[in-house]
Amino acid sequence: MQIIAHRGASGEFPENTLLAIAQAILQGADAIEVDVYAVEGELIVIHDPKLERTTNGTGTIYQHSLAYLQQLDAGEGEPIPTLWQVLELVQDRCWLNIELKGKDTAQPLLALLAKAEQELGLSLSDVLVSSFNHHLLLQLKQALPELRLGALTASLQLNYAQYVHDLGMYSVHCDLNFIDQQLVHDAHQLGLKVFVYTVDGLDDISAMQQLGVDGIFTNYPARSRVWAFEGG
Ligand code: G3P
Ligand code: MG
Repeated sequence: MQIIAHRGASGEFPENTLLAIAQAILQGADAIEVDVYAVEGELIVIHDPKLERTTNGTGTIYQHSLAYLQQLDAGEGEPIPTLWQVLELVQDRCWLNIELKGKDTAQPLLALLAKAEQELGLSLSDVLVSSFNHHLLLQLKQALPELRLGALTASLQLNYAQYVHDLGMYSVHCDLNFIDQQLVHDAHQLGLKVFVYTVDGLDDISAMQQLGVDGIFTNYPARSRVWAFEGG
């Protein structure tokens, strides 16, 4: 079962910062998950469109210039990183799940991935792009068919695995509160991977192993890795 550091090692360090990502890599995470918006065509890494919870800024990211956003403190003196900085940091160390949150992210992402393939030697097989916005995923699928895509859901729709398969996705990303054996079974039958968020507790980690999911998003990659290992 893969351990995916949710917003980096965000249980211990400021979420979605280079610090939290670097620590997750040190802790042996198999992958890093980050949340992404586009501002002035630049992809930036932050979870909320509102700035108050995770930075010393106010208002929304769309009210401000990129220059303003980049001088904010996202915790422990860390700035809001760009996705490019994250790609540079993660490169060759583990794989990366880019969760697209914001509008107008598809074209900048395609441009950034092309640049990273050229300049960083990025392999697309080390990237998985996910979103709750399935229109966006389809747009990406059409533009770059080999890109791995994951359909996020915060509920449990009927025939969800079949639906995700028909969209041509690589994986199903499901809420811990809704995952069940049927979905795991259906997804695997259709050749889809199953990733579950957010799984931090020992009991939940064991339950996910019992279900046979392919990976968990966790805020505590170090201890989750130990617990998953001990659990078999
Ligand atoms: O990608 C898994 C998970 O991060 C989705 O929900 O709100 O934590 O971004 P959220
Ligand atoms: Mg996320």
